Amino acid sequence: MKKTLVSYASKGGATEQAAKIVANVLKDNHGLEVELVNLRKESPDIAQYENAVVGAGVRAGKVYGEALDFLKKDFGNRRLAFFVCCGTAGDPNKREEACSEYITKVLARYPNLKAIAAEAFGGRMKILGKTVFDSIDPDKIRSWAETLVNKFA
Ligand SMILES: Cc1cc2nc3c(=O)[nH]c(=O)nc-3n(C[C@H](O)[C@H](O)[C@H](O)COP(=O)(O)O)c2cc1C
Repeated sequence: MKKTLVSYASKGGATEQAAKIVANVLKDNHGLEVELVNLRKESPDIAQYENAVVGAGVRAGKVYGEALDFLKKDFGNRRLAFFVCCGTAGDPNKREEACSEYITKVLARYPNLKAIAAEAFGGRMKILGKTVFDSIDPDKIRSWAETLVNKFA
């Protein structure tokens, strides 16, 4: 029961990339036993994990449903870290709005969750193979992941 779940729902790949960064920090820098799970393909059994990270993308003002469905599960006393990747958060002038819409309001729907950390990161949008924007900041994601270790312990 000492495993840490790093789960994500991603359509364009930004959240998947972020989740992999988080998983690598926890595993490689801190020796945690981490399982990376794609919530669009699998619904993990939360009972197997001690802590969980849930990440999701945002489209049309909505956090991806697979992540929201997963948050409905009974996490008991497990510590949860939640993040989103979205266009709004990548704009410094709109980051607060992203945190309010996609973090604060979303977590308020699940009052039983023990969220020990939550963050909104930038995302990436491609249309017909052309990058419209790419505001993923791997260093920021790495720094955030570093802060999780003590909170999980
Ligand atoms: C069709 C579409 C709709 C989007 N709508 C929003 C939105 O409402 N708010 C926002 O902040 N970003 C929006 N974005 C940007 C996404 O949040 C960004 O592409 C992010 O990387 C999505 O995560 P993913 O790559 O893991 O799927 C949209 C992107 C697409 C392609």
